[in-house]
Amino acid sequence: MIPKETIDQIFHACRIEEVVGDFVQLKKRGVNMIGNCPFHDEKTPSFTVSVAKGIFKCFGCGEGGNSVNFIMQHENYSYPEALKYLAQKYAIHIEEKEQTPEEVLKQNERDGLFVVTNFANTNFQENLHKSKEGKAIGLSYFKERKVSDEMIEKFELGYCIDSFDAFTKTALKAGYNIDNMVKSGLTIAKGDRNFDRFKGRVMFPIHNLTGKVLGFGGRILQNDKKAAKYVNSPESDIYSKSKVLYGMYHAKKAIINADLCYLVEGYTDVISLHQVSIENVVASSGTSLTTEQISLIKRFSNNITMLFDGDTAGIKASFRGIDMILEQGLNVKVVTFPDGEDPDSQAKKLGGEGMKDFIATNSKDFILFKSKLLLEGKENDPVAKAGMIKDIAATIAVIPDRIIRDEYIKMCWNVLEVEQESLYQEVGKVRENKFYESRQPDRKSRYEEVVDLRSNRSTQQKETGFSAEYQEKDLMRLLMEHGDKNIHFFETNEDGEEEETVHRVADFIIADLQTDNIIFKPKSYQFIIQEFEKAIKNGTDLPKEQFFIQHENRDIASTVVDLLSSPHSLSKNWEEKHQIFVTTEEAILKQSVVNSVNSLKMKQVEELLIANQDKMKTSNHDDLQELLQTQILLMEAQKQISAQLTRVIIK
Ligand code: CTP
Ligand code: MN
Repeated sequence: MIPKETIDQIFHACRIEEVVGDFVQLKKRGVNMIGNCPFHDEKTPSFTVSVAKGIFKCFGCGEGGNSVNFIMQHENYSYPEALKYLAQKYAIHIEEKEQTPEEVLKQNERDGLFVVTNFANTNFQENLHKSKEGKAIGLSYFKERKVSDEMIEKFELGYCIDSFDAFTKTALKAGYNIDNMVKSGLTIAKGDRNFDRFKGRVMFPIHNLTGKVLGFGGRILQNDKKAAKYVNSPESDIYSKSKVLYGMYHAKKAIINADLCYLVEGYTDVISLHQVSIENVVASSGTSLTTEQISLIKRFSNNITMLFDGDTAGIKASFRGIDMILEQGLNVKVVTFPDGEDPDSQAKKLGGEGMKDFIATNSKDFILFKSKLLLEGKENDPVAKAGMIKDIAATIAVIPDRIIRDEYIKMCWNVLEVEQESLYQEVGKVRENKFYESRQPDRKSRYEEVVDLRSNRSTQQKETGFSAEYQEKDLMRLLMEHGDKNIHFFETNEDGEEEETVHRVADFIIADLQTDNIIFKPKSYQFIIQEFEKAIKNGTDLPKEQFFIQHENRDIASTVVDLLSSPHSLSKNWEEKHQIFVTTEEAILKQSVVNSVNSLKMKQVEELLIANQDKMKTSNHDDLQELLQTQILLMEAQKQISAQLTRVIIK
């Protein structure tokens, strides 16, 4: 544990241009510096360093953050590792804070497990390369399967001696602790006897993001129908199956560079693809994906291509898992392989270039793929088709971005040859139900109330969190950059006198969001707003941008880096310095703030209007009157907001 004060000291000492400059050649460009991004291939530099803000941002691949984030990313370091690196660079002494006894225990336990897995990893590799048995059985197996020496070394493949406790004995002799061996699953204790879990298997170590060994997969060599083909390490303090993807340590950089992650099923698929120079690949290890694994991929890319080797039934079984990926806003494509082939065998057959071609020509958009697959054999069965529409609608409905959703509705309607309207309706229905569940029921916006008053049906308002993305972002940026500045309003009071009121930007924005009960969807936005709310409520200083930039939570830090490196924000200093533009944002701050707030509201009302119109189209006569009323109310609100929007612009 590094004490908070030391962390502050490290951040204070860091000069982003020096930290980055050790790895990237930077050139001055105004107050910023630019260079070629180390995280993806590029010829014209889009990697920007803001010296004043202490952040970097690549406009090509989206990577961004503070000095610590840079080192973590570039060197594959964990947070404390990066801090230690920087402390050393700036000659700051780290006095590790005393941990509580529980913390020490926990840390020791984890360290103890890592020590054992590391020993096992070395031992298994030595067996493979040096022992007679390992060479004769393990190594020859890999050779037979055409795994190259380079891959054997890269993936640290090994062999566990085929005797019921050879490994455990060796480890004990070398002084390792039996409890840790049992906890990490290498040894199975039965009564007072110990057995090796992996005896007689070839070994695939599973690494974390920094390359430490968390656990193993062991493959049996004979075709024994009774024994499992693979045995894996059990869950432990260091290995949580649902959070790990096999191969991520080796794939990270390649995924960022390609902005694409291939997902395969098995250990051997990952290794074979690497062997033909396709390195942006990870494996789910035969189980269905978890949300944590998807988030892990999302840290590196928003694009996933799943390489399926299953039959149709197997593929259908994975549909639910894929919906989860879409829900997190990732783009999903699928590739299927000819009968009996998997990515491993196909890569061996076709070689690198052939495999790349194969993937390129066979990548299909997932939703279309699903539609076609479900449709097979049911083209003339209206009942079955109706069921399918529900199925496809459920998939489309999870996509966060409205525009993309609409695109898909159009495409699928073409494939399925159903009424476009019914697909729209189904998607709408699913989303309504979904958001009813996920939003807090006691928080309603003014507009929702207007609508709810008129109609008891739920509203599309609940979706706003997704589609008003740009408006939300702009408002957050203003809050972050100008929250502490004042804006002046002039209003005529009852006596006809002009009165001036002064509002701090942060108070103005927060109050406005509160009155309308607007909740932004991204968790990081919610966190930032809460911090501002807290400060306003307690009358303390507003949170500073560095507070967020240096936040340990990567999501928060990168959100704020992203806000502060919007083209508007980064270029501003430059404009000011060179006095190119007379109107900096500050000069027109009031206009920016009021406009931003109103644009957000406008967007919300627009959405409500569209939803209401949709309902009107399909209304059974009974509620048409109500819907019309709502329509009028909403249009009235729209008019008011747009009047305000133009007024401010003119003034
Ligand atoms: N798997 C497992 N336990 C099993 C079978 C499979 O954990 N009994 C996991 C492994 O991670 C395996 C993946 O599921 O890599 C895919 O299984 P499969 O396709 O059967 O194995 P392959 O990786 O193709 O292995 P091989 O080519 O050596 O048969
Ligand atoms: Mn295989």
